[in-house]
Amino acid sequence: MKMKRKVLYNVLGTFFIGVAISCSPINATERDTEAQEAAATEQAPMLMASLDVKEAKPVDPKKINPSRIITPGGAELYNTAPKPLTVEQCAQCHTSVFNKVKNDGGRHRIHCQDCHIEFHSYSPAKNNFQEIMPKCSQCHVDPHGPKFPNCITCHTIPHTPLNVALNDLLSAECGNCHTGPADELVKFPSLHTTEVACDSCHHSKHGNIPSCMECHEPHVANQPISECLACHPVHSPRQISYGAGTESTCATCHGDVYESWFTSPSRHAGVACADCHQSHGEIPECSMCHSQPHDPKMLAKFPRCLDCHIDVHNPPVNK
Ligand code: HEC
Ligand code: HEC
Ligand code: HEC
Ligand code: HEC
Ligand code: HEC
Ligand code: HEC
Ligand code: HEC
Ligand code: HEC
Ligand code: HEC
Ligand code: HEC
Ligand code: HEC
Ligand code: HEC
Repeated sequence: MKMKRKVLYNVLGTFFIGVAISCSPINATERDTEAQEAAATEQAPMLMASLDVKEAKPVDPKKINPSRIITPGGAELYNTAPKPLTVEQCAQCHTSVFNKVKNDGGRHRIHCQDCHIEFHSYSPAKNNFQEIMPKCSQCHVDPHGPKFPNCITCHTIPHTPLNVALNDLLSAECGNCHTGPADELVKFPSLHTTEVACDSCHHSKHGNIPSCMECHEPHVANQPISECLACHPVHSPRQISYGAGTESTCATCHGDVYESWFTSPSRHAGVACADCHQSHGEIPECSMCHSQPHDPKMLAKFPRCLDCHIDVHNPPVNK
């Protein structure tokens, strides 16, 4: 560390002196720039010493090469507390990082230096890149529990933290973070449990929601996915539930029944399929809705209502 600082000061020293040279009024008798530069390099360590705030004494012009212009001020120049760089100033050089954070940084749109406590100290010789980079643990405490210590495996770019890579680790662990869907698939076995992996549906990127029509034909043309989901919860698609207003879907598989129901002159045509068949395949009792339609003696003799009413979807009508 000490070593590096010294080198930096030397470089800075040369820089400031270079500036001083180029700013000095040109003296016809002292145009030998090569000589000046050589002198500057020689003088640099001495100058640095003279700028040391602790030992500050005014610069003695007699002890300095007379061709040099030294900015007046000495210790006064250093009597200041520089403000830290703003995000905007970092961005002037690191435009692409800035744009990533700006457009896709989510809740990481905090000050660069909240994370980068140490920076501009990478040294290929020390191979210290990882060492000086911010650690997630500076601020986060196991947000997913202790099973996921290697944050960068999934959050590959900290400047866009929600762009999670869909890698093997993530795919193997869906159910560990999302117990709901995983449990539901097990509890209600269907071909989605046995034939389709989480990431076959949730493909391409984490959080992607697929359309059913990537893999299925709809029952009815232009049926929106919201309707599919209303009948088939996707992680338990055999747990079908539906309400009134879904008759056209029933019709795609039960065309004959639908036809006789739809064209029936009876008042059953005003009763929704779903009101009688409350779950798929269930057959209702007439008594669910009709309590005492006939003389009990007659019903004791003829207990099956449909012996007389024949077709429940289109019962004969008494005009
Ligand atoms: C939430 C913490 C966080 C914030 C905020 C953040 N960084 Fe970083 N940055 C990191 C981490 C962690 C790495 C190391 C990434 C790696 O290991 O590849 C990094 C790497 C870098 C790098 C070197 C690698 C590269 O991508 O070029 C630069 C330059 C950088 N950040 C600049 C910035 C600037 C400029 C800002 C503000 C506009 C900023 N960072 C904001 C955490 C952060
Ligand atoms: C005057 C231009 C400039 C400014 C301003 C600047 N940087 Fe840099 N920065 C560089 C250059 C040049 C590099 C080295 C090349 C590279 O990695 O892009 C660098 C490298 C980095 C690195 C990676 C290497 C390392 O040693 O840390 C980080 C992190 C970084 N800068 C963060 C910041 C942050 C944070 C700010 C604002 C507080 C900032 N920089 C302001 C020019 C600048
Ligand atoms: C300087 C502190 C700091 C560091 C270091 C840091 N984060 Fe964050 N991170 C935050 C804050 C603050 C939030 C917002 C938290 C909140 O609002 O609840 C956040 C949010 C996030 C989010 C959610 C982002 C969003 O938009 O919802 C992810 C993912 C995340 N961090 C991952 C990481 C990873 C991975 C690392 C290490 C590479 C890291 N963070 C390093 C401070 C930090
Ligand atoms: C197996 C992959 C994986 C690993 C490893 C991982 N994360 Fe995440 N993390 C995710 C996913 C996926 C999300 C959800 C992203 C989204 O909302 O789209 C997430 C979300 C987050 C969030 C936001 C949480 C919220 O509720 O909004 C934070 C913060 C976070 N991660 C931090 C971390 C930190 C810190 C580590 C390391 C200790 C880490 N993650 C390790 C995959 C991972
Ligand atoms: C390390 C934990 C973690 C892992 C592993 C993980 N997720 Fe997530 N996932 C999250 C977090 C956190 C969120 C955002 C918060 C939420 O909605 O629960 C999220 C969000 C989602 C969403 C969006 C939810 C919505 O309401 O829009 C889907 C879909 C999703 N994950 C699917 C998956 C799938 C599929 C996998 C496996 C390939 C997976 N996740 C792996 C943590 C994780
Ligand atoms: C057949 C395709 C398919 C399979 C297989 C599948 N999903 Fe989903 N998943 C979806 C669809 C579609 C949605 C949107 C559901 C909605 O909006 O009601 C969804 C929603 C989600 C959500 C967000 C809503 C919620 O219920 O929390 C998470 C998280 C999720 N799935 C995780 C998983 C996990 C984990 C697995 C594997 C264990 C999995 N999914 C398997 C298609 C699938
Ligand atoms: C990634 C492809 C994929 C997506 C997306 C998908 N499915 Fe499937 N689904 C399948 C496969 C594969 C089967 C097994 C039968 C087959 O080959 O058709 C299946 C079977 C089904 C079954 C019959 C289940 C059984 O056990 O009999 C229903 C119902 C179903 N899907 C509904 C849906 C609905 C609703 C959606 C959208 C919310 C959807 N699926 C999204 C691939 C998918
Ligand atoms: C009104 C409810 C309802 C709606 C809306 C609905 N389905 Fe179905 N779906 C069913 C019923 C009932 C079955 C038959 C289940 C059985 O055979 O036990 C079924 C069966 C399926 C099957 C099994 C294969 C087959 O054709 O027999 C798939 C796949 C399917 N639906 C996908 C979808 C998709 C995709 C959508 C949206 C475009 C959708 N469903 C909308 C009720 C519905
Ligand atoms: C994708 C095709 C499909 C759709 C859509 C569909 N069904 Fe079915 N339905 C079937 C199949 C297949 C059977 C089983 C037939 C068998 O076992 O002989 C069945 C059986 C039935 C049964 C029981 C039949 C019996 O003999 O016990 C009723 C009642 C029924 N469905 C009503 C409905 C209603 C109401 C709807 C609309 C909400 C509907 N179905 C939508 C395919 C479908
Ligand atoms: C008023 C109540 C009622 C209504 C409304 C109704 N059903 Fe039924 N459905 C029944 C009863 C009761 C049976 C059993 C008939 C039998 O045992 O012969 C039945 C039988 C069925 C069957 C199996 C026997 C067959 O005829 O194929 C299917 C399929 C069916 N209904 C579909 C539907 C559909 C689709 C609708 C709407 C278009 C519908 N039902 C409307 C009461 C109703
Ligand atoms: C979900 C309720 C429900 C079920 C179950 C039901 N019905 Fe009905 N039924 C009705 C309604 C509502 C009417 C119209 C009566 C009214 O408006 O007062 C009706 C009317 C009738 C009529 C007179 C039709 C006409 O237009 O003249 C007959 C006959 C009938 N039902 C027979 C039956 C038989 C037989 C069964 C059993 C196989 C049955 N119903 C099951 C609701 C139901
Ligand atoms: C022996 C034949 C027979 C049997 C069995 C029978 N019905 Fe009827 N039902 C009729 C006749 C005929 C009518 C029309 C004359 C009438 O209004 O009494 C009728 C009418 C009805 C009506 C219409 C009443 C109105 O107000 O318009 C309903 C509802 C009804 N039956 C329900 C049932 C139910 C439910 C059963 C079984 C419990 C049943 N029926 C058994 C012959 C029968």
